[in-house]
Amino acid sequence: MKIGVSGASGKLGGAVVAELTARGGGHELVAISRSPEKLSGTVEARQGDYDQPATILEAYAGLDRLLIIPSADLRVGVRGAQLKSAIDAALEAGVGHIFLISAAGTHEEADPSLGAAYWTGEQHLIKTAPRWTVLRMSYYAESMADEIKMSQGQGVLAGLGDEHVAYVSRDDLAAAAAGALLGHDHEGAIYTATGPVAVTGPERAAIVSELLGKPIGFAVITEEQFRAGLSQSGLPELIVEAFVEIKHTFVNGKFDIVTGDVQRLSGRSPKSLRDVLAQQLV
Ligand SMILES: NC(=O)c1ccc[n+]([C@@H]2O[C@H](COP(=O)([O-])OP(=O)(O)OC[C@H]3O[C@@H](n4cnc5c(N)ncnc54)[C@H](OP(=O)(O)O)[C@@H]3O)[C@@H](O)[C@H]2O)c1
Repeated sequence: MKIGVSGASGKLGGAVVAELTARGGGHELVAISRSPEKLSGTVEARQGDYDQPATILEAYAGLDRLLIIPSADLRVGVRGAQLKSAIDAALEAGVGHIFLISAAGTHEEADPSLGAAYWTGEQHLIKTAPRWTVLRMSYYAESMADEIKMSQGQGVLAGLGDEHVAYVSRDDLAAAAAGALLGHDHEGAIYTATGPVAVTGPERAAIVSELLGKPIGFAVITEEQFRAGLSQSGLPELIVEAFVEIKHTFVNGKFDIVTGDVQRLSGRSPKSLRDVLAQQLV
């Protein structure tokens, strides 16, 4: 089988290619990026840009299965259009089965919401592709580790309310994606890769306190306070607004879902937030 990974130079895509390689099975792997020279390793590298349909049409040629990983482009409307382009190119190229990385809690949303692109991509895939699988991701435990590294000096972790988030390790998501790409009976399924439990804000702070050996609290602040803190750190407005929206999703339940899908697809238990923070913070 010939399996392509679009977005292979990224952190998630790189981990998927590594998982596919480790699992063997004699499949041919194709890693796709705008800059294939960035892709090192033993797999075939191809050039493909979601913004240039002719390049992805060529890159997806001859693939039996393709994983589409969305770009991290936060400009309004861009990612949704990219996903539609990638799906159309895969269909035109004759890819047999298209797999899409999406986000937990995806539902009908319009731009400028971050969720709009995932809704657009999922709907386009479901309506146009004869064989498809969606793998929704919960919030990355590694992204939370990065946030904690930035704010731990303040002695407090902030949120916009009563959070419940089933953080997933990016490596577990990658393992689940690899398992799905290599597996059978996943047609027409929407999976959600999550960690083993939904974690609240105070629980998150307690884990960090224990790991760092110093008291770290959890404080609920206003959106204005949160936005002001981020703006002061010099982050661009698009990123600030993305963080604000994400913090709201921690409270409104978008990531308050725990499934057995990592285990089901990858064959291994998902890491907890504590496992990932212990690796990243200590
Ligand atoms: N759930 C979460 O908590 C969470 C957290 C962070 C990010 N994410 C999302 O998860 C996805 C993957 O994350 P990641 O950490 O692997 O991101 P990443 O490291 O930034 O990788 C993004 C990938 O997208 C590719 N890409 C960017 N623009 C492209 C274009 N125009 N055409 C084709 N490929 C393009 C990049 O490849 P080249 O630049 O080599 O072309 C790269 O391989 C992204 O959608 C990101 O927004 C989710």
